[in-house]
Amino acid sequence: MNIKKHVKRGLWNHLMKSGVEMGLASIIYEVGVASKYVNHAMRTGDLGMAGTSNLYGEDQLALDVMADEIIKDRLDHTGRVSRIISEEQSEIVIFERLNRTGGYSVCYDPLDGSSLVDVNLSVGTIVAIYAGDDPLQSGRHQVGAMYVLYGPRTTLVYGTGNGVHEFTLNSLGEYVLTREYITLKARGKIFSPGGVRRDYLPEHEKIVQKLEQDGYKLRYSGGFVPDINQILLKGGGLFMYPATTTAKHGKLRLPFELNPMAYLIELAGGAASDGRRPILDLDCYDLDQRSPVYIGSREEVELATQYFT
Ligand code: AHG
Ligand code: MN
Ligand code: MN
Repeated sequence: MNIKKHVKRGLWNHLMKSGVEMGLASIIYEVGVASKYVNHAMRTGDLGMAGTSNLYGEDQLALDVMADEIIKDRLDHTGRVSRIISEEQSEIVIFERLNRTGGYSVCYDPLDGSSLVDVNLSVGTIVAIYAGDDPLQSGRHQVGAMYVLYGPRTTLVYGTGNGVHEFTLNSLGEYVLTREYITLKARGKIFSPGGVRRDYLPEHEKIVQKLEQDGYKLRYSGGFVPDINQILLKGGGLFMYPATTTAKHGKLRLPFELNPMAYLIELAGGAASDGRRPILDLDCYDLDQRSPVYIGSREEVELATQYFT
């Protein structure tokens, strides 16, 4: 074991080498610390239901609540976060003790796809980071975003404007650099349709048919983080969660699911649209704001938007 190599390739070292501002770096690093506790809890015990529900009326798994508490605590610990939006909190949380200027606001989904844990499928944590005290901003204003994927390996992917980079949790409990400057090609070979086919609107039905006719392979796990991660690491493809006859704004939430992933995918050379406009240009005015999404390599997103003009 070459300890020097591990330290050199560690997450904190990479953040400092990349010149990431200390406060922003500490937020990314502390979410990494929190993810180790979430990772451990998830793999060591079935925590069952918490007996509570969130803003969306979804029964909260004890794991959802626990992951949320751990991440909230670590963000508070940085002393650089003034406000947060969490999928598991019904309103914006204000950290009272912050009296420093130059704080940050964070929107996060502590455990996306949490219902998949009980069938041993991969889940993730998704985080969007803004400068200042307002977590309800257009995604274009993000100064950084990241996700943690709890799969066969536990990996952390972050971007702050200078490339998208992946770290893998090793047996010593460190995140070590495994991919740097990840980029998407112009087009891929896989697609995730989202929703329920009988509820598709005509435009989405046509897009899915076109992709199938062009020989794209269907890849859909029910987990946004693994499905996006697969497109990112395979270098291309298209993830969709459309507006449907039963959900006219689709399912995924803008503040803590779509904006952070759109930031990372655009940074990697891809695109993300609601069918008509870039996700990052959408005005973000509500914690539980939903939007249809077409996200992945440029040519497929472009193809999808042509059906909505
Ligand atoms: P969450 O578990 O945080 O509610 O999010 C789950 C989301 C996302 O992970 C996934 O892409 C989508 O739900 C799958 O929805 P369907 O089960 O309707 O396909
Ligand atoms: Mn989610
Ligand atoms: Mn969730």
